[in-house]
Amino acid sequence: MATVPEGLDRVPGVLARSRELVRPALVEAVGQLHPWIGEMTAYALGWSDAAGTPDPAGSEGKGVRQALAVLGAEAVGADGGAAVAGAVATELVHTFSLLHDDIMDGDVLRRQRPAVWRAYGTGPAVLAGDALLALAVQTLAEASSPWAATAVRHLCGTLNALVRGQADDLRFEQRPWSGSGAVALEQYRLMAEEKTGALLGCAIGLGAVLGGAPAGTAAVLDRAGRHLGVAFQAVDDLLGIWGDPAVTGKPVHSDLRQCKKTYPVLAALAADGTAARELAGLLAPSGRLHGTAAARAAVLVEEAGGRAATRAEARRHLDIARSSLREASLAPGAAGDLDALFTYVLDRSW
Ligand code: IPE
Ligand code: MG
Ligand code: MG
Repeated sequence: MATVPEGLDRVPGVLARSRELVRPALVEAVGQLHPWIGEMTAYALGWSDAAGTPDPAGSEGKGVRQALAVLGAEAVGADGGAAVAGAVATELVHTFSLLHDDIMDGDVLRRQRPAVWRAYGTGPAVLAGDALLALAVQTLAEASSPWAATAVRHLCGTLNALVRGQADDLRFEQRPWSGSGAVALEQYRLMAEEKTGALLGCAIGLGAVLGGAPAGTAAVLDRAGRHLGVAFQAVDDLLGIWGDPAVTGKPVHSDLRQCKKTYPVLAALAADGTAARELAGLLAPSGRLHGTAAARAAVLVEEAGGRAATRAEARRHLDIARSSLREASLAPGAAGDLDALFTYVLDRSW
């Protein structure tokens, strides 16, 4: 197992520096939206409350994707400023995907506050997501960079992957928990790579592309981000069961109640033993878990080893992501920042 990099303490500075660099362009882009869409976006980004009043207590999110983009440019020897359009585009796509995802998942809370669809209505939230997607592509297409067209192609490929991953995630809900139609762990991994990893990889890759990197280097960085994404999603699955809603800002057991095919449950079912068998029985009769059944399922998942297996899976993909970074010849300072940021992203679970 790889050692945890020293210098995790540099991460808050990296996130703050990237936020400062990207924020003016993000504010400018959001300012181009229809005022009502702009208000929903400001709410989603944690800039204001649902009445449109600036909200100093609102959570902006960690800004990991914009930092990945900035570091992607710096890692290939460019100025972080070269990545700004890519950073804005990935933050906009991220926001769009969450707006729509909360509708699809029926989740009512995001970052401690009502999800946009709960605060403004489903139709408006769909429309705001559409607008953010268009704005993301436009921002990149209009970037004053010789590599803007390559960057747009990169983003569009990512959008297709993200949609494929979401499609699998939704379709997996209808699949049985056991038998020949059950979701294999490898199918889960592919789904997670597409729904979550594609955008993380895209963020670093776009930074590298806009920083003038050769295609091979951008591809290595993109792959590293995809592995980070698989690890990130495994941790997200863990937090969905054992996370503190006061910290995650999301409801607990929502995935279990909806019978989402998450890694901890799939890994638990794959184990042999009494806990796995009781879990299989609990999940079998209905498409949804109600009341205390979700809490009981959480206990059984842990007893059957699903929690530990998920941590190990996250750690494995983090290690692959970090060794991919070492494959590319990168500027040492930014490579160190990326390495620390990768570990920080996973650190939220343990
Ligand atoms: C979200 O996946 C992925 C996209 C938005 C494309 P999840 O549904 O697992 O994420 P959370 O738990 O709602 O944040
Ligand atoms: Mg969701
Ligand atoms: Mg989802």
